[in-house]
Amino acid sequence: MEGYDESTYGRAFADVYDDWYGDDPRLHDLVTTVGALTQSVEGPFVELGAGTGRLTGPIAEQLPDRRIIAIDASAEMLERLGARAGCERVERVLGDMLDKFPDGPLSFVLASYNTAFNLIGEGRQVELLQRIATSLAPNGHLAIETEPPLETEEESSVSVRHMTADMVVLSVSRHLGDRRLEGHFVEMVNGGSTRLRPWSIRWFDHLELATMAEAAGLEIAHHGPDWPTDHTEFASGPPQQPHGRRVTILRRSESSIRA
Ligand SMILES: C[S@@+](CC[C@H](N)C(=O)[O-])C[C@H]1O[C@@H](n2cnc3c(N)ncnc32)[C@H](O)[C@@H]1O
Repeated sequence: MEGYDESTYGRAFADVYDDWYGDDPRLHDLVTTVGALTQSVEGPFVELGAGTGRLTGPIAEQLPDRRIIAIDASAEMLERLGARAGCERVERVLGDMLDKFPDGPLSFVLASYNTAFNLIGEGRQVELLQRIATSLAPNGHLAIETEPPLETEEESSVSVRHMTADMVVLSVSRHLGDRRLEGHFVEMVNGGSTRLRPWSIRWFDHLELATMAEAAGLEIAHHGPDWPTDHTEFASGPPQQPHGRRVTILRRSESSIRA
């Protein structure tokens, strides 16, 4: 999309992000998983594309003695994160999640719901996984939550996100091929203005994620529709289905640590 760069999404969504996506029934399981898996591993916790801090705040409270690093390409998003209760001591890093990825050893890296899809440059998702793999401490983990779009969807589509008598928010999108998808939320107010909220992603399905992870030296500890509730024994196994909302937790494989 002409005129779109890594800061565009955050600039367009910061003012509505918490209203639209703030309630997350999975938050408790996510936070307890991060707590359990970082307990015996040294090093900072890093959230990629941390946004308004809706997850970073509760995680920082769960890990009171740990360095917490939040990377985001949008100043508007990070400003909101900085003002959030619980985020007072969170280190904010403005910039691209790959360019600004910190040196390890790190205990945990989180890329929450579809955030990794925002890295759209060719080969950059592979590069990111490799960078994370080499920066994780032994027994450090990377958690990625994604819901890949269906390839069978129409080439372009329009649907209604929200509607009242005086306004409508339409979701428009188009597939570009090569797993690239882009769109706008278009907000139109009767007798008033139009507001565009653009987004652009390069998505990967769960099978591609497993391949990228293996090549980077990461092994699957958990892959399932939910965050694990039993942290002593994971329901692991490679992905069987390419699609569906899934949480994938990866850790540095023994062989990559020895190498
Ligand atoms: C879908 S939001 C997720 C926010 C947060 N992780 C959450 O779950 O509430 C994606 C975030 O990634 C940020 N972002 C987009 N592209 C980025 C990039 N290349 N590097 C770093 N952050 C990026 C956006 O500004 C936005 O805050």
